[in-house]
Amino acid sequence: MTDSMPPESPAHVPVLRDTVLRWLAPRSGGRYVDGTFGRGGHTKAILEAAPGARVLGLDKDPEAAPAAAALAAGEPRFRFLAGDFSELGSALDRVGWDLVDGILLDLGLSSPQLETPERGFSLRHDGPLDMRFDPGSGETAAELLDRLEEREIADLLFGMGERRSRAIAWRIVGRRPLRTTGDLRAAVIAAVGPRRGRIDPATRTFLAVRSAVNREPQVLAAALHEAPGRLRREGVLAVISYHSGEDRPVKHAFRRLAEEPRFELGTRRPIRPDEDESGANRRSRSACLRILRRIEDAPGEIVRPDGDGR
Ligand SMILES: C[S@@+](CC[C@H](N)C(=O)[O-])C[C@H]1O[C@@H](n2cnc3c(N)ncnc32)[C@H](O)[C@@H]1O
Repeated sequence: MTDSMPPESPAHVPVLRDTVLRWLAPRSGGRYVDGTFGRGGHTKAILEAAPGARVLGLDKDPEAAPAAAALAAGEPRFRFLAGDFSELGSALDRVGWDLVDGILLDLGLSSPQLETPERGFSLRHDGPLDMRFDPGSGETAAELLDRLEEREIADLLFGMGERRSRAIAWRIVGRRPLRTTGDLRAAVIAAVGPRRGRIDPATRTFLAVRSAVNREPQVLAAALHEAPGRLRREGVLAVISYHSGEDRPVKHAFRRLAEEPRFELGTRRPIRPDEDESGANRRSRSACLRILRRIEDAPGEIVRPDGDGR
């Protein structure tokens, strides 16, 4: 995979790779969806774990496509569709898969997205204030912050747990038009002062704006609505989130579903990386994996002895 990436792209280390594999337990003939292909770390792990397993990869970032094309070129068990995981159902219909054995959503940003200043996600590098997963569609972060009223911006930040939301919104509006990530970070610092602890003072603001630009809550809600019904018996939905705004809806959706006889929770508490992983990969530190398993057949599901029924 690394060979197909532009030389300046930093590699992405798949988070909780072995734990995800243990839960998905890929089997020969199994069908798996990697809804957030990125650079394919988890996809490759699934393909390697079971020689007969097949994977459908999805990603809405066009920059994921070259890595996916390189993998697909040498691996007939892998197929990639550029698109949104909220449209999981139509992606599965397109490839003719009804039910699947596992679905993974590894939310958030890949290392190349975070470390490429031109994408406008980074707190550390100045770049255009973009933040779109798909730079080919929708409003940029700059356009969004130009359009919203001060109160709407404050609400957005407050929703991500930013306690100084009003002060920051006031600074943002006073400094419009903001054009770069540096402009946004400077507006936050003007409102709340420079960094005092380990966390950058603009962290929550950046998360809130990114989430709004990409309609992340709506997209995740749609996926959580669609995905469980596409699991076959013993199928697993695994979601890795990186902040409480992502984890909360997953937790609530999974708990609600586990009240039905069809589903059970993999674990009551979220699974987190161990010290070795969080020491070796900073990005993994906030990761939080939740598992939902289907335990009853879907209506009309035929499970053949070889387990390849649809
Ligand atoms: C954390 S990265 C995944 C990394 C991947 N597991 C790997 O090992 O390379 C998240 C990926 O999800 C993609 N993504 C985010 N929201 C998406 C959505 N709604 N639909 C499809 N892909 C999305 C991003 O573009 C990014 O490439």
